[in-house]
Amino acid sequence: MSFSKTRQGSVQHPEGVEVVVDTQDDRLVKESAHLIEQLGRDKTKSKYTVYFGAKGVELRLSSHIHKKGILVDFSTIDRRIGAGNLSKKQQLPKAIGDYTTVIDATAGFGKDAMLLTLMGYNVIAIEQSPIISVLLRDGLYRAQLNTELDEAIGGRLQFVESNSINHFSKIENPEVIYIDPMFPPKKKKSALPPGHIQALQSIVGHENPKETTLMFEAALQTATQRIVIKRPTHSQHIKNNPVAVHEGKTIRYDVYRPS
Ligand SMILES: C[S@@+](CC[C@H](N)C(=O)[O-])C[C@H]1O[C@@H](n2cnc3c(N)ncnc32)[C@H](O)[C@@H]1O
Repeated sequence: MSFSKTRQGSVQHPEGVEVVVDTQDDRLVKESAHLIEQLGRDKTKSKYTVYFGAKGVELRLSSHIHKKGILVDFSTIDRRIGAGNLSKKQQLPKAIGDYTTVIDATAGFGKDAMLLTLMGYNVIAIEQSPIISVLLRDGLYRAQLNTELDEAIGGRLQFVESNSINHFSKIENPEVIYIDPMFPPKKKKSALPPGHIQALQSIVGHENPKETTLMFEAALQTATQRIVIKRPTHSQHIKNNPVAVHEGKTIRYDVYRPS
């Protein structure tokens, strides 16, 4: 199916999204073509639609296609000194420590990756879902159009569309690898508002514990300094004897040394 540059009929995809292109913007038309190529075509109805429109890339409910959806908007992060969002006294930067390079192995909607970038880390954030990846690239593109935010990012953030386990070997000497798996959704405190969590779960599903273990083991072989994994407070450690645990109310960050 070829895509003209105006509003299309929708195309359904196996991962549970439809795609609507309602823009003539070259960047977005190319992104939509890339997404369709990644996902193939399917005739089933989908709960969510990836909507390429005037505001960028949005995840809209297919049943409310004309209503505003979820888009990755980094401009809403409160960057004021004193607001606390970028304080290195928080549990995550304390777990990551005083290093330079962080691989965020599970980018999601990119909130942690952006917060770490704005704190001063160099971040490579990897996301395996092509749907979430297209939203992330669009979010970063729009963030870079905002001069102040672009300066604060300082070219230190990169999003990679890939499976982390396959991608780790392509990164030279990453100091810290950070893993924030999906599971278990109800017990885990998330940085994301509820609609975002539901959308993410609907699109990428819940955690596959075997894959998390594989990712963790690959991270142990790859990071030069630390591996940090976010877990619900009462869950078991993925491996005995973390070297440090930074605990919040409902989640904790377990820190391990590389093998
Ligand atoms: C809980 S979310 C991460 C949320 C993120 N920390 C944030 O601040 O938005 C987990 C994400 O990891 C992604 N993911 C899971 N396994 C992955 C893998 N092997 N490689 C890359 N991404 C993966 C999922 O698709 C999902 O988007």
